[in-house]
Amino acid sequence: MPDSKDTPLHPDLESVLVTQSQILGRIKELGQQIKEIHGEEEITIISIINGAIMFTADLMREIDNPVRLDCIRISSYQNETKSMGTPKLIHSLTLDIANRNVLLIDDILDTGKTLEMVSDIINKLEPAKLTVCVLLDKEGRREVKFDADLVGFKISDKFVVGYGLDFAERYRNLRDIGVLNSDLQNSPELA
Ligand code: IMP
Ligand code: MG
Repeated sequence: MPDSKDTPLHPDLESVLVTQSQILGRIKELGQQIKEIHGEEEITIISIINGAIMFTADLMREIDNPVRLDCIRISSYQNETKSMGTPKLIHSLTLDIANRNVLLIDDILDTGKTLEMVSDIINKLEPAKLTVCVLLDKEGRREVKFDADLVGFKISDKFVVGYGLDFAERYRNLRDIGVLNSDLQNSPELA
């Protein structure tokens, strides 16, 4: 597999913010921290899709506990680079999580509205313990008070894509996380 540092910058990106190898290195550390929190117990992972799919796939392979996986689908951006009002629940959970150890995973914590809403849904189902893990945290953009238990990288207020993060459903397949060119953020062709 080519290392990110050898990969030319994608033409739609202004810069790379976090490389594939930095992501994978940090995920190993997060796996260790999850182990410290949950010990040998079974963990029910809830991944907020689509954005968290890559992160979830890599993180769950760093956890050797027995795991169950469920996904919840939320929509917050409609082809925009700023959150549009209230996040919408598109598809809810299918597993029973009462009295379970739950690990909630998202790609990025921005205004906090999505994770606040999903945490409320989960807490109403009375899990034994809820741990929230995000790959990226744009602390400066928070509109509701929400802190994740585990954060991969704190980043500034730039719209980023790659490694599961999208703009208008594009760029999820990029290996690195990068800042999208600002002229593309207003591009009607991408809508
Ligand atoms: P929040 O509800 O504002 O915290 O938004 C969280 C959701 O918005 C995340 O799950 C992402 O899907 C999306 N999001 C926030 N910032 C970015 C970004 O820079 N790039 C891509 N998606 C983002
Ligand atoms: Mg998302």
